[in-house]
Amino acid sequence: MSSIGIDAVEIWSGKLELELTTTFADEKGDDPEKYADGLGLHASSLPDAYEDIVTMGANAAHRLMEREGITPDDVGRIDVATESSFDNSKPVSTYIAGCLEEVYDGDFHHANKGERKFACIAGTQSLDDAYNWIRAGRNRGRAALVVATDTALYERGDPGEATQGAGAIAMLVDEDPSLVELSAAQGYGSADETDFLKPNQQFPSVDGKRSVQVYLDRMLEAGQQLEAQTASVHPTDFAYIPFHTPFPGMVRKVALLGFRHTVRGTEMEDALADDIGFQPREAEFDDRDAYETAIREYMDELRETDAYEAWYADRIEPTLALSREVGNWYTGSVHVARVSALLDAHSAGEDLAGDRLLVGSYGSGAQAEMHAETVMDGWQDAIREVTIDDQIANRYELSFDEYESIHDVHNYEKDVPRTRFTTPSAEFVFDGWGPMGERQYRFVE
Ligand code: CAA
Repeated sequence: MSSIGIDAVEIWSGKLELELTTTFADEKGDDPEKYADGLGLHASSLPDAYEDIVTMGANAAHRLMEREGITPDDVGRIDVATESSFDNSKPVSTYIAGCLEEVYDGDFHHANKGERKFACIAGTQSLDDAYNWIRAGRNRGRAALVVATDTALYERGDPGEATQGAGAIAMLVDEDPSLVELSAAQGYGSADETDFLKPNQQFPSVDGKRSVQVYLDRMLEAGQQLEAQTASVHPTDFAYIPFHTPFPGMVRKVALLGFRHTVRGTEMEDALADDIGFQPREAEFDDRDAYETAIREYMDELRETDAYEAWYADRIEPTLALSREVGNWYTGSVHVARVSALLDAHSAGEDLAGDRLLVGSYGSGAQAEMHAETVMDGWQDAIREVTIDDQIANRYELSFDEYESIHDVHNYEKDVPRTRFTTPSAEFVFDGWGPMGERQYRFVE
């Protein structure tokens, strides 16, 4: 049976930049270290007045198709993952297909299109759908286009405001992929939670502190389920471990939890015991609270060990480089983390072919999923042309007043002039509303 996975990837960042450690921290009167160190963020990407989830998704997909020499006839399925949708009926994939049909001969009438929603995990679920469609043989030689696109905006003044972001990632899923092969084994942690939701409203209602705990609980469950299927999951089995990254400080927490859990009972725990003792075992304690206190103390010491620091620096830190500069892209976030790691390996001249990644996705509401991926022989060619570093460098840097004005432009409840800060070139742009309230788009040369 042939392998199935991600053959090619492209990223489109929102064109605007809000500096968190200067512009945002100054305005809020906060210590810049809260952002740089605490949350782990330097800046957010935000959409210009002519950008939205359709333009960013279509632009990422267009760039990918141009680079790979793909035509509409090569694509049998378009799935869009988003939690920023503006229509409860017509899927964003139809708008994106419509955009692409403007610039290609041929059309996507033969392609199955859909929209996936489960908060930030929907991008990974769309990869699953594509995988299953190909595995079932229903693709008939065609590839699937998966687009994860979001404008991750919060109410102004919400604690989540510092973690905003906007961008899209397009992934081509195919047989014999060039970038990574997806494993069939998957672990899930899924429960009915109210940590973060948007009940028919644009900006989320968030219980921020609780959302952090729910993320950790569900991810631990997903890891345990994966372990049950694959015998062992050890932190050094993987070259990189990209996690869903709402902000890098969240990954700092989940990585420590995962490391502690997976080294338990291994030679690495024995080696660490010389410095910090063995991990507390629940059976040694009279009550759960005492056990949890002991575990927290152990993890505080574990975090400071040379072994943990080296592991984190090698296998986690490189996954966070893009996130620090662009913020949370919701459905795209974990996929941006994967690209971040691969770009790091590419620029360091490493040969990752045959190495494995462990990928941890999360969506509020809530569900986590973990699976392994194998890096394929063609990974360097598949990653080297991703231009996200240039896009980050070329963003327009907003003043705080400008940030507030663009936030208002994207607020559905405000009717304000759509003042733009950059000039579009060779890309799809939002072009107003049609008679049925539909959004309209055009390609600007
Ligand atoms: N220097 C260094 N560090 C500092 C600091 C300073 N001067 N000031 C604060 N910090 C640290 C804090 O100690 C904290 O780190 P720890 O958690 O490791 O202790 C970190 O900076 C953040 O500080 P606060 O907790 O005080 O920040 P906050 O309360 O203003 O906001 C948040 C944090 C509640 C998570 C908020 O960002 C939020 O609501 N975000 C949106 C929800 C979210 O992203 N949740 C994550 C899990 S849910 C998910 O993943 C889905 C999704 O994408 C939304």
